[in-house]
Amino acid sequence: MTHTIKTQHSKQVLIRLEAIEKVYGEGNAAVHALDKVDLIIHQGEYCSIMGASGSGKSTAMNIIGCLDRPTAGSYYFDRLDVSGLDDEQLATIRNRRIGFVFQQFHLLPQMSALENVMLPMVYGGVPYQQRRERGTEALIKVGLGNRLHNKPNQLSGGQQQRVAIARAIVNNPLLLLADEPTGALDSHTTQEVMNIFGELHSSGITVVMVTHEPEVARLSDRIIWFRDGKVIYPDLTPEEMLNVAVAS
Ligand SMILES: Nc1ncnc2c1ncn2[C@@H]1O[C@H](COP(=O)(O)OP(=O)(O)OP(=O)(O)O)[C@@H](O)[C@H]1O
Ligand SMILES: [Mg+2]
Repeated sequence: MTHTIKTQHSKQVLIRLEAIEKVYGEGNAAVHALDKVDLIIHQGEYCSIMGASGSGKSTAMNIIGCLDRPTAGSYYFDRLDVSGLDDEQLATIRNRRIGFVFQQFHLLPQMSALENVMLPMVYGGVPYQQRRERGTEALIKVGLGNRLHNKPNQLSGGQQQRVAIARAIVNNPLLLLADEPTGALDSHTTQEVMNIFGELHSSGITVVMVTHEPEVARLSDRIIWFRDGKVIYPDLTPEEMLNVAVAS
């Protein structure tokens, strides 16, 4: 079940997890959500993370995205040891280098599409006019140049997810992380969102997404399969993934 990522060997390592453990709770109530996870993802890869519910996918994503810290082990992001950083330093890395997309969009309901997309640049101290221009550009990139001033409840689910993607990419991140980005979408809208992911990957962004849907995962180049807090298959091709999915 192994194949080499031939085109990736020359590329830089972006994500390196070494013996990562995550334990929630203590004593009898302790849950080992991640159990000695080793994982390397190179710059420019397009990966899907799959595995049963409760296998540790979101926990791994939260650590990769610097939203949470491991209980033990080391994490290097773009060759920087992030295990040793404080909350503020982690927040800076998240804001500047990583874009997030979630199943439930997480848009602010009182703000327009454009205002939602401009928000991450506020923390980065970008001047207003530039925020407006870059926000508009990002929305045009996801096909929403004609919906700049709509609020989330005036947009379809797929359009809301595209606003969330525009917000995720507006600071030109190295890494786009998505946890079940199509989980709340129908099949037509799923395809639209996946087309955008494909374009972002082609433009050079590293994409890592969690999905339960084989038809979504097969669009990525590499599938990482979790079971019981462990990576059991670090590098499946889409074809191999389909066999594993049928068997599990
Ligand atoms: N904040 C938390 N406190 C306690 N236990 C947690 C917490 N978050 C997750 N867990 C537990 O850790 C394990 C892994 O959870 P995780 O959310 O990473 O799974 P997942 O693979 O993303 O599942 P799903 O496909 O259902 O989203 C589960 O047993 C879960 O109950
Ligand atoms: Mg999850």
